[in-house]
Amino acid sequence: MKATAKAHTNIALIKYWGKRNEPIILPTNSNLSLTLDGFSTVTTVHFQEELSSDEFFLNDRLVEDAASQRVTGFLDKVRAMAGKEMYARIHSLNHVPTAAGFASSASGFAALAAASTKAIGLELNDTELSILTRQGSGSACRSIYGGFVEWQMGEKEDGSDSYAVPIASKDHWDIRVAAVVLSATEKKVSSRDGMRRTVETSPFYDGWLKQTPKDLEEIKTAIHDKDFEKTGSIAEANCMRMHATTLGANPPFTYWQDTTMRVMQNVQQMREEGIPAYFTIDAGPNVKVLYLPKDESKVKQRLEQIMGVEDVIVSKPGKGISYL
Ligand code: DP6
Repeated sequence: MKATAKAHTNIALIKYWGKRNEPIILPTNSNLSLTLDGFSTVTTVHFQEELSSDEFFLNDRLVEDAASQRVTGFLDKVRAMAGKEMYARIHSLNHVPTAAGFASSASGFAALAAASTKAIGLELNDTELSILTRQGSGSACRSIYGGFVEWQMGEKEDGSDSYAVPIASKDHWDIRVAAVVLSATEKKVSSRDGMRRTVETSPFYDGWLKQTPKDLEEIKTAIHDKDFEKTGSIAEANCMRMHATTLGANPPFTYWQDTTMRVMQNVQQMREEGIPAYFTIDAGPNVKVLYLPKDESKVKQRLEQIMGVEDVIVSKPGKGISYL
């Protein structure tokens, strides 16, 4: 009744931003990500008769807050699927090469889903695992697979057709992603709260819904053709539109800080100087920069020099779930 799984985080090139159903996490738009090899979570789940509740350890520390409630809530679903009442001890290690709070719920829930279902004896295929993982955290359902992955929103009310599908393997195309970690990073609005507020109050949200399916179709062709300029510019524009919706929310908010903008401007400047680089930003101030392997040293050096940048962590396309 014990299993260990490893999952990598992913960066959305076409963002998931908004839910049509909160309890089982169904998105308002299909979206697409690249799984990264630089950040991962390794989770061991051990179900034991003698436990009277779940115990969640993150990086060897017992966690007893909202995060552990989310883990327990997720394990309740796993127990219900398996028809078993047993509680578990969960050990999660985040392999993030910095102390800057860059941990992601994507690798966390993907590793938890894989380890817990295996430990409790459920034999799920990848689609079933993606559907379950989605209910822990939406973006996590994409981390089941490596490389380029689409989360198809589906249409059904029960979520049985809302899951991730691999689009191109990690070996299809060697592009790089630099995660630019800022020195002062305080996440004030969680992605969950941010997307809810935006859906409910932002008049710009309709524009987002209208444009994103077009972005998705175009980027799939660009990825297939290995057209870097097209892939990067679509991803950057899609990111800008997502962040524009937050400015229209009530009350308005933004995830950007001054350093975020400095990094964005530097990336645009690099392009003017002939280095193809593009950025994308999730629900926080850190920036991810896409570039080609041949430009790695130039891009990394440039990003490291920006005032307020603490670290630059380089990733290649990564693989999907593995069991250890
Ligand atoms: C901006 O997957 O963290 O990173 O489903 O509520 O857990 P929940 O949200 P989460 O949202 C990720 C939002 C995003 C875009 C993306 O990854 O697609």
